[in-house]
Amino acid sequence: MLARIQTLLAEVEAYTFNGSESLEQFKRLYTGRKGALAELFDQLKQVPAAEKAAVGKALNTLKQRAEARQAEAQAAAEAATQDATQPADLTLPGTAAFTGSRHPLRIVQNRIVEIFNHIAFEVVEGPEIEDDWHNFTALNFPANHPARDMQDTFFVKHLDDKDGEHTWLLRTHTSSVQVRVMEQRQPPLRLLMPGRVYRNEAISARAHCFFHQVEGLVVDEGISFADLKQTLLYFVRNLFGPEVEIRMRPSYFPFTEISAEVDVSCQICGGPGCNVCKHTGWVEILGCGMIDPAVLTNCGIDPERYSGYAWGMGIERIAMLLYRVPDLRLYSQNDLRFLRQFQRLV
Ligand code: DAH
Repeated sequence: MLARIQTLLAEVEAYTFNGSESLEQFKRLYTGRKGALAELFDQLKQVPAAEKAAVGKALNTLKQRAEARQAEAQAAAEAATQDATQPADLTLPGTAAFTGSRHPLRIVQNRIVEIFNHIAFEVVEGPEIEDDWHNFTALNFPANHPARDMQDTFFVKHLDDKDGEHTWLLRTHTSSVQVRVMEQRQPPLRLLMPGRVYRNEAISARAHCFFHQVEGLVVDEGISFADLKQTLLYFVRNLFGPEVEIRMRPSYFPFTEISAEVDVSCQICGGPGCNVCKHTGWVEILGCGMIDPAVLTNCGIDPERYSGYAWGMGIERIAMLLYRVPDLRLYSQNDLRFLRQFQRLV
């Protein structure tokens, strides 16, 4: 009889419950009125007195285990029917998950790229650590020329340049990428060059030691100043809205001839004057011009055959106009209260 009890115990432990049918069967086989347990308890009376204690103990263990397993299965079955009769309440408010957001400067850069993609501009990038040639000399800034002081430069030591023969610096503008591309490719060129630039300036609400620019470059046969003007007008109207006007003012850059600065009609006050436009109704957004023939020559492009235009603009400035950001430092302080506001814009 002990052997039978052991076999039944093993069966009970191994039994798989799987729906109400199996629970009923378990009762029929083991715990029910006509099940194995009842039968064994009945037989206990006939067990010889000497074995009774041992058999009785084993039988009790079997009984406890069978009842425990049955209770477990019963509870599980009840929980399952409860779930089915009470479906989840879909009107309950959910837990909002913050999924992160793009940085406002990246949103603006993406938008600028998108606008120029529509008129077939290609995006190209270049290194942030530059040499003197690409940042200055090739762009027609002769050595010791005062125009170099227009941009306060961070000079760096290059570990590969042990004898210190070359001048290495953090690029002060993305115009260096123009040189890199023109040295390697012949026209037609139609390029957009976004990137980070560095200047040795005291940090304030209006200046930072690093910021971001997007450079544009077009070189081909027969390119004129009218092409430049129309391209920029197309751009600002797509970015700020169809009502926007531009104004070009004569300016000076060593690498363009003629050179201009471009203002847009103030998007903050709409004309009458405010702090942002310094009460003029106009805000400067970029510098541009026709590429100086000397620059084309420096880069191996024939200025007799080709002409081109270029421009450079600051992304922070444009983002400031679009989002009314009052202080440049906000862009790099990583304050989530600032950054989260741009989640759904653009
Ligand atoms: N590199 C100039 C700056 O950083 C901006 C600029 C002006 C870029 C005229 C150009 C250009 O390509 O033609 O201030």
